[in-house]
Amino acid sequence: MAFRYRCRACNGPNLKKVIDFGKMPLANGFLAEEEFESEKFYPLEFGFCVDCSMAQLINPIAPSVLFTENYPFVSSSSGRMVNHFDELVDSAIHESPKSSPRLLEIGCNDGAALERARAKGAMVLGIEPSGTAKIAKEKGIGVLEATFASLLAKSIRQTQGLWDIIIATNTLCHVHDLDDVLFGIKMLLAEGGVFIFEDPYLPDILRLTAYDQIYDEHKWYFSVTSVNRLLTRHGLKLVMVEPQTVHGGSMRYWVINEGEKRDDSVRQAIEQEQFIDLERLYEFKRETIVEIRNLQDSLDESLKRGRKIAGYGATSKSTVILNALERWLPIQYITDTTPQKQGRFSPGVHIPIVSPDKLREDDIGVVLMLAWNHFDEIIEKDPIFNERSRKLLFHSRRVAEWVTR
Ligand code: TYD
Ligand code: ZN
Repeated sequence: MAFRYRCRACNGPNLKKVIDFGKMPLANGFLAEEEFESEKFYPLEFGFCVDCSMAQLINPIAPSVLFTENYPFVSSSSGRMVNHFDELVDSAIHESPKSSPRLLEIGCNDGAALERARAKGAMVLGIEPSGTAKIAKEKGIGVLEATFASLLAKSIRQTQGLWDIIIATNTLCHVHDLDDVLFGIKMLLAEGGVFIFEDPYLPDILRLTAYDQIYDEHKWYFSVTSVNRLLTRHGLKLVMVEPQTVHGGSMRYWVINEGEKRDDSVRQAIEQEQFIDLERLYEFKRETIVEIRNLQDSLDESLKRGRKIAGYGATSKSTVILNALERWLPIQYITDTTPQKQGRFSPGVHIPIVSPDKLREDDIGVVLMLAWNHFDEIIEKDPIFNERSRKLLFHSRRVAEWVTR
């Protein structure tokens, strides 16, 4: 009999293993040369719950291992993401009945969204466990350097009261104990308040064969169907959903305390998600295997032709892609604009991370696009992509289709 796993969302016994990636290094564990020997690897298994439709990691790694002081992600490294957060904040404040609402952000990172909210007259507070909180604080934004949990929510409620708007972008999918976090959010939501969150959207991951979205930090792969079930169990109500193009396809969820009327977008999305079942997930697994093999072949082919290859964007996703390959990687280096990553090496495969300026100096023939979710922005701002002599390579055919659409 196949081993049974328990769903971490609904607690049912029908969580099925879909993809076993074997042992992987930490996706954001960019490291120094002297750390190579002590680098740790962890099993990465992706599953789907037949009962509540929640795709999730099986046995995820503890948050204390994942989110350390050196966590290198900085929201403001992408101009497009900053615009995106501005738009989210603007529409949240616009919809609020209050002229200067109280806005709480869970996982505020470097404070990009809170800065906007403050400029729009909101009273803001951020919560951020990683070292990026310091950047937000330098902007004069109030930040609690902690991991959000119901205990913290209780003390926030006691000392600071309730919140009209709570936002969380690309945060809920990282949360280890989702029940506890939702309990805390419900506790902090003011009467008539709204909780808005957005995360990568499972149907987009399937459509693009974006297997590189599956890594240690992404514990949940939401759909409207699974989110709706989850929130209902917590006495929260999903009232509206809005598809987003960022991060290769995300969904924005508008949530309130129980009682009010629902927008038709929720019902429509759930209807469109009927195709998501275990069979479709197994198909995704087969497509993933083909994409990994194709990428290996393309890299081997380029190498045979004597072309030098560089990667663009030291993303967490790149850790998945590069470590999923079976054979030696003929990649000279990966470029990235994040200062904390430059001078370090990519997890597992130990490829050096350098500034994008290096690409201008070298005779690199092929660039493997690893930050494909920022492709539009990158192609616009970086003139090296105008040079015909360079070939752009994508890790997945479907992702390439998406970006050239
Ligand atoms: P991100 O989108 O957060 O992907 P992931 O969640 O998989 O880590 O990271 C994008 C990375 O790409 C980040 O390290 C910054 C880098 N980057 C560039 O090097 N150049 C660019 O123009 C942009 C937009 C990002
Ligand atoms: Zn479940």
